[in-house]
Amino acid sequence: MADLGVEFCGLKFKNPVVVASIEPTNSAERLKKCIDAGAAGAVVKTLTDMPIMATLTGHSKYAILNEHGQIIRGKVPRNYVFYSRSGYSSTTYQEWEPYLKEAQAYAEKNDAHIIASVGAGSLETWAAIAKMAEDCGIMMIELNFGCPHPTQMKEARTGVLIGQVPEIAAEVVERVVDAVKIPVMVKLTPEASNLTEVARSVKDAGAAAVTVNNRFTGFAVNIETGTPYINGPAGVGGPWIKYVTLRWVHEIYSKLRMPIAGSNGIFDWHDAVEFIMCGARIMQIGSVLMLKGYEWLNKVIKGIEDFLDQHGYPDLQAIYGMASKKATASYNDLFQVKGIHAVINEEKCTGCWNCVRSCFYDALSKGDEKVVTHSDRCIGCELCFNVCPFNAVTFAEND
Ligand SMILES: Cc1cc2nc3c(=O)[nH]c(=O)nc-3n(C[C@H](O)[C@H](O)[C@H](O)COP(=O)(O)O)c2cc1C
Repeated sequence: MADLGVEFCGLKFKNPVVVASIEPTNSAERLKKCIDAGAAGAVVKTLTDMPIMATLTGHSKYAILNEHGQIIRGKVPRNYVFYSRSGYSSTTYQEWEPYLKEAQAYAEKNDAHIIASVGAGSLETWAAIAKMAEDCGIMMIELNFGCPHPTQMKEARTGVLIGQVPEIAAEVVERVVDAVKIPVMVKLTPEASNLTEVARSVKDAGAAAVTVNNRFTGFAVNIETGTPYINGPAGVGGPWIKYVTLRWVHEIYSKLRMPIAGSNGIFDWHDAVEFIMCGARIMQIGSVLMLKGYEWLNKVIKGIEDFLDQHGYPDLQAIYGMASKKATASYNDLFQVKGIHAVINEEKCTGCWNCVRSCFYDALSKGDEKVVTHSDRCIGCELCFNVCPFNAVTFAEND
């Protein structure tokens, strides 16, 4: 059986699956459930000194939508839209002290790690909450620079508002790194213009890793009532956002080679493998657990293991960053790749004209019954191959 163990910021994780900071980690009992379900770690629901962020959690709202923008009513599609609003931990960070100790002791006994997420309102309290967690025996801190809701709340100068500005993010990291000895990881917002620059800035300030990333703010409409779901803007994510997240995992891995925890868009083991191949060392899984339960974790872990076994990979290292390493460094490099042109297999072509409809380079036209190719105009874009239902398109290299 493949070895699922992974080293991350000096800690050994028994597998790459960690529960993200979210409602399923909002108490010591819930953290224990994550560990019981097989997770190698769990990030505590963000600890805060800002009452407004706890109040927001007391007013949490959810609209889980299908691909038609309707409430799912129990049937969870793979590409669900998780549209929701909740704040930080519902109790004060001081009240968490005994529970952090309890959860940490449980994690130690079960070969797992508790990571403390912090989301504060002043430089002093960012450092104080992190220090409190360290004093409880916690082995790693995550700074939540990604919470999307502060853009909608004038009292909350935190989360995304910090993660959008590399200099401010670095200032907070420096203060926390000065206050604690344990590794500090930064959870990025996707709502910054360049996540790699934010990651570079916090790395230079002493961050040991980044979580790529928290969620966007969105706006979802119920067209039957003509009203926004759950009254207006809310956090939005779901498995469909994976491709956007992977772009940043790939870029930060390729440019900075810093340890990455992947988050935002993981539904199952397949997604997790993609994150690892792009350069994530561990994964943080969140919203899917609120729909499928803690038991889902085990399926994700088992799925990764089966994938490695079936492909003969001995461990995660064998696939770590694999896809990122094979990507072209820039679009300019693509211009050096040898050209190809489409060839139609006349036996398979049925004259459905899908390919003709999708060719915007005048390289395919309708013949009497079959598609006719004009190779001199074909640029080898491969769109015809994608839309052909009969596998009638192949390619030949240009002379
Ligand atoms: C209901 C809900 C509450 C969340 N609360 C927090 C939080 O307190 N702190 C935090 O850093 N991220 C929070 N997040 C973001 C998640 O940790 C995670 O990054 C995000 O949901 C993307 O992962 P997913 O695609 O697995 O859901 C929350 C997300 C949701 C849906």
